[in-house]
Amino acid sequence: MIKVNENFCRLAPNYLFSEVARKIQTFQKANPEAHVIKMSIGDVTRPLCPSAVEALHRAADDQGHPDTFHGYGPEQGYAFLAEKICQFDYAPRGISVQPDEIFISDGAKSDLGNIGDIFSPDCVAAITDPVYPVYVDTNVMAGRRVVFLPCNEANDFVPELPSEPVDLIYLCYPNNPTGTTLTRAQLKVWVDYALASGAVILFDSAYECFITEADIPHSIYEIPGAERCAIEFRSFSKTAGFTGMRCGYTVVPHALKGVDSLGHEVDLNNLWRRRQTTKFNGASYPIQRAAEAIFTPSGRIQIRESVDYYLRNAAILRQGVTAAGLSCRGGVNAPYVWVKTPDGITSWEFFDRLLAQTHVACTPGVGFGSCGEGYVRLTAFNTLAATEMAMDRISKFKI
Ligand code: MLT
Repeated sequence: MIKVNENFCRLAPNYLFSEVARKIQTFQKANPEAHVIKMSIGDVTRPLCPSAVEALHRAADDQGHPDTFHGYGPEQGYAFLAEKICQFDYAPRGISVQPDEIFISDGAKSDLGNIGDIFSPDCVAAITDPVYPVYVDTNVMAGRRVVFLPCNEANDFVPELPSEPVDLIYLCYPNNPTGTTLTRAQLKVWVDYALASGAVILFDSAYECFITEADIPHSIYEIPGAERCAIEFRSFSKTAGFTGMRCGYTVVPHALKGVDSLGHEVDLNNLWRRRQTTKFNGASYPIQRAAEAIFTPSGRIQIRESVDYYLRNAAILRQGVTAAGLSCRGGVNAPYVWVKTPDGITSWEFFDRLLAQTHVACTPGVGFGSCGEGYVRLTAFNTLAATEMAMDRISKFKI
């Protein structure tokens, strides 16, 4: 029989959100009359903005005419979108990113999972705990050693620098799942550490559009020197409701270098280009046209309305859980609210009791790592009506 990649056998049998979905489905089957409100996976509920829909229609028409038909596109993405990203996501913050440093893809999840291809399997990965499970699971699949950086009340959810040498550092801010943030000064500590140690920071800023407070960096490249030590991942999923469309991008600066076993310097931008051109054929033309449309004046206003809508939901979540006597973090610069379970109840016990009693589904914090035990995560991505109904039910929840 064929030998398998045994690293997969070291993973939990199901991906976190598949497991949560399975549990909800089992509950719904046993209780068909229950109206379950899903505050679990961070999936958007607002439809695509009109500017993106119009662009999709136009792109569909393009594909129906010989003069405007597009076959294989550039694997790295169309210049029309990369140029808009540089112009609108980076230049206004004083960051100089060139279009050929942008790699457009089918979403940040794929890029975060695939980026490990360009690093040695011997690299040690430092990963905050709790964390978006993709970072840990993909490093386990690759056979890498993972060092966890606990984030808890004791350190105010700010990770401490690793106590041993590491090569890759995963940071996600605003944070999924805790909704916490790092200030410029706190992020600078990590950039300085990476520059001094030769580590590379993999910075997931998928939630930057939810930042409402000053002094919280939207991009790691706001920190001097980060272009020499960091790769940044961005997503249109939460920014523009693209969870079902699939589009995101990764920035790999030319200034970022690695080294081979002979000590020769290697350009990471070239390696990622080589990886993507070999294993990926690019996000589709209509999807990239729709993404481009969110940078038009009307598109920018429309997506801001949706982000503000979800931020209002987040405020309702914070008020609701606090009124129910529970303490929480996040929800101010992020669409996630991180709720502490009372009386030492485990994350999964709380999940089960909440679902059984109120028919509200959350995500158990322990699914994001052992430091998430004793917490659950609520998402602000449901509708306003569902968010209000969930909070009404939680206000009557007898723990
Ligand atoms: C989440 O709920 O953490 C996210 O929606 C998952 C994702 O972005 O893949």
